[in-house]
Amino acid sequence: MNAMNDLKTDHTNAAWHQRRLDATPRGVGVMGDFFIDHAKNAELWDIEGRRFIDFAGGIAVLNTGHVHPKVQAAIAAQLQRFTHSCYQVVPYAEYVSLAERINAIVPIEGKAKTAFFSTGAEAIENAIKIARSSTGRSGVIAFGGAFHGRSLFAVSLTGKVQPYKAGFGPFPPEIYHVPFPAEGASLDETKRAMDHVFKCDIEPSRVAAIVFEPVQGEGGFNPIQKDAVLWLRALCDQHGILLIADEVQTGFARTGRMFAMEHYGVSPDLMTMAKSMAGGTTLSAVSGKAAIMDGPAPGGLGGTYAGNPLAIAASHAVLDVMAEEKLPERAQRLGDQLVAHLRAAKAKYPRIGEVRGLGAMVACEFVDAAGAPDADTTKQVQAAALKRGLLLLTCGVYGNVIRYLFPLTIEDSVFAEALGVLDAAMAETLA
Ligand SMILES: Cc1ncc(COP(=O)(O)O)c(C=O)c1O
Repeated sequence: MNAMNDLKTDHTNAAWHQRRLDATPRGVGVMGDFFIDHAKNAELWDIEGRRFIDFAGGIAVLNTGHVHPKVQAAIAAQLQRFTHSCYQVVPYAEYVSLAERINAIVPIEGKAKTAFFSTGAEAIENAIKIARSSTGRSGVIAFGGAFHGRSLFAVSLTGKVQPYKAGFGPFPPEIYHVPFPAEGASLDETKRAMDHVFKCDIEPSRVAAIVFEPVQGEGGFNPIQKDAVLWLRALCDQHGILLIADEVQTGFARTGRMFAMEHYGVSPDLMTMAKSMAGGTTLSAVSGKAAIMDGPAPGGLGGTYAGNPLAIAASHAVLDVMAEEKLPERAQRLGDQLVAHLRAAKAKYPRIGEVRGLGAMVACEFVDAAGAPDADTTKQVQAAALKRGLLLLTCGVYGNVIRYLFPLTIEDSVFAEALGVLDAAMAETLA
């Protein structure tokens, strides 16, 4: 069949939805029943011409918006030169200069080095490999509610069974989970669980790394307690364990700083990043203390597509845009505005639970009359917003949290319009 004729004859959302069900496995779950045609900054249009305001950002990837002109120009310019050589075969200077730029801004004490990969999960996998190779130890400790990706080791670190882990075991040995010390939770409980792991499962001298998200993303936009970060750093120093901050979702201006760890004044040993670092192209990275990063022998790190030239070019442009448009400051201002808006709504609607966040990494919970997590109401608010053209994402271990991942470059008028839509969706669902 001729693909173009095919598109012209039945290019509707309903037709593609049916074809998707037939051609792709159900495991690749899809939230929307409409198909994107094009997008610009914080807006996207489906193949039937309907406009949406995008507060999902392709799951935290579009801090610089859809098709930022500078990112687009950087990719277009790179496209004229070459698209692939495999960095490990024929290197390119822009990979090195991007590593230099990232090394200069990561909140890591002393000399840093950076290696590039393609996805967040791949960055996590490699951070663990680097930690194991440089410490000669095997154990890894992660947190309940964490999300570190879907590849087999990353999903083993993930602390949420449904839908990520169910049916995919057995998982690699020597991974342990302890409760996440979110703001408002008990740090003592985490400390007790860590003691338990050290007494019953593995001696600290065999633990290579503790990996955590400064603000849990999929887990519900829970910022970690500052005291917990200080405690983790001290615990790692005491036992020679490496502290890995997973900044895949928090990085690149979302929290009001380039990296969330800047809020805590604590230096991790290794950091993972991805998502908004390359404006929608596929790029991730591991940065870390130089001596640790040099643990694996030549050939131990990399990948055919790791640090793809188009994505590296895009990432250079993203860093320029973030500085020129002062996106960390803008994230803080828009985040403050959204938090104030949600708190005003909470005063009206008791079904809105906690409103929380760091910078523009903002979320609110929905609860039932008894104050318990209410996933159904959350879905209803999401659906009511979508009906009015506002794309929202849910998250949280109980599925009762809506997170707001608008581009930080969003026009003020579109941001105000989106808040109006949100008000209408809440009024329909919660009043
Ligand atoms: C904190 C964190 N780590 C890792 C990942 C995995 O990234 P990817 O989906 O690019 O593999 C995600 C994705 O949502 C994430 O939020």
